Amino acid sequence: MAEVTIKDKKFVPFLSAEEIQVRVQSLATKINQDYAGKKPLMIVVLNGAFIFAADLIRHLDIQPEVQFIRISTYGDAMSSSETAQLMLGLEVDVEGREVILVEDIIESGFTAAYFIDHVLDQEPDSIKIATLLYKSSLFKGKYVPDYIGFDIPEAFVIGYGLDYAQRGRELPGIYQLAPGT
Ligand code: IMP
Ligand code: MG
Repeated sequence: MAEVTIKDKKFVPFLSAEEIQVRVQSLATKINQDYAGKKPLMIVVLNGAFIFAADLIRHLDIQPEVQFIRISTYGDAMSSSETAQLMLGLEVDVEGREVILVEDIIESGFTAAYFIDHVLDQEPDSIKIATLLYKSSLFKGKYVPDYIGFDIPEAFVIGYGLDYAQRGRELPGIYQLAPGT
């Protein structure tokens, strides 16, 4: 993995594609066990989670229903915002369903909490969070993720679906903002 430059920022290798695949497989194994015989509703948060979700779901041997939502938070900036806004809403009934929210990264936890509060109003049977990345040191939210790929340091990351200013999503590995850039 070589360094990547996007606009004015330099990013250095952090997690290889192989490391990610091994971890995604083990999260899928856990979900297969926990939801054996069930048909959970997996709600994927666009845009960032699309690659993680695609890989995770292909390792499942249960039969989930998959839906997508979009929540706006960051814009092109690099700091988290406390005000989330539902952009592309959920078009299925979650009442009585076992819901798994699939996120790329949870930082403050505000984005996930905003959505979960909204879903809880509709009385699902259960709701859990699967996130590839978790910045636990920055977490201030209400709902701790249930399935965590990697607990990572505070540095901004891109790749494997995650972007900086809408770029870098195509990278198969994950890269960290180089210190001092
Ligand atoms: P939270 O509401 O603070 O938990 O922020 C979660 C959202 O912020 C994620 O869904 C991402 O879209 C974005 N985000 C947080 N940290 C990063 C990062 O390091 N790289 C790219 N996006 C990030
Ligand atoms: Mg996101």
